[in-house]
Amino acid sequence: MEALAGGIATIIERGDEVLLPSPNYSSHIEQILFAEGQPVFVPALEDRGWRLDIEGFKAAITPRTKAILLCSPMNPTGAVFSEQELRALAEIALDRNLFVIADEAYDFLVYDNLPHFSLASLPELKKNLMATYSFSKIYCMTGWRVGYMYASARIIDQVLKVHDAFNICAPTISQYAALAALRQTAGRHSAGRQFIRDLVAALAARRETICRRLDHLSRIFSYQKPQGAYYIFPKIRLEGLNSMDLAIRLLQEAKVITIPGSGFGPTGEGHIRLSFGGTEQQINAAFDRLDHWAHRQAGD
Ligand SMILES: Cc1ncc(COP(=O)(O)O)c(C=O)c1O
Repeated sequence: MEALAGGIATIIERGDEVLLPSPNYSSHIEQILFAEGQPVFVPALEDRGWRLDIEGFKAAITPRTKAILLCSPMNPTGAVFSEQELRALAEIALDRNLFVIADEAYDFLVYDNLPHFSLASLPELKKNLMATYSFSKIYCMTGWRVGYMYASARIIDQVLKVHDAFNICAPTISQYAALAALRQTAGRHSAGRQFIRDLVAALAARRETICRRLDHLSRIFSYQKPQGAYYIFPKIRLEGLNSMDLAIRLLQEAKVITIPGSGFGPTGEGHIRLSFGGTEQQINAAFDRLDHWAHRQAGD
């Protein structure tokens, strides 16, 4: 989070525009606004599994455009962008000399053996690229606050000034914990690598559970199956309820926390985000409550 904020604060001047696929992680929007930049949303193509609209990106570029920011797998949709899509985006960025900020927090968390393509693997993009990585998800170290940025020395030298002003360094104890995580996961056959494979397999099973449970609520939601991360972003099929209204009603009446889609940019309205990061038991308990709530709405 801090690498993203520091990277954005380094390159964005007041009024600079940053293109984002929408819906997108709400903190990206806040970080751009904090740097006095202007988020410009390029709606993703929901009917096609929330794919990138490459032509939309081209059309959204103005003389004030400074950067493109995206993550893959995507929070909140779980979309994983293909090599072809990402190469097309990189080409646009190089053509217009834009920075590319690639949030790689979920790079390890892709289902169905789909390949994960990273913009950081394109040597020609390196001079324009900031890629950010997190220990939070892959090593389940969310509260330890450790992550890092990969970029050229030219960029890192500038970001370090902002990093110093924001928080100087990651906590020492967390750095030791991160070192332990790296050591434990060294080598394909290490215990740590097996832990990560097990984690991905467990989350893949939970994805099936949440999709199965959502299928039983098809009167209320339709959805695109996520390809990565641990979120699903169903469309609300109930008339006259916006995402905030529904999220509050689900919280108060069903005692289930969801995130209103409006928090993920304008394209997010009409949806809610659900996480399947919890245990199977927690997911099933939440859906038992949602089923109950849905029956009450229908007067069954
Ligand atoms: C896309 C994305 N980027 C960044 C973060 C924050 O990462 P960290 O815990 O490393 O600050 C999250 C956390 O949910 C996320 O979903």
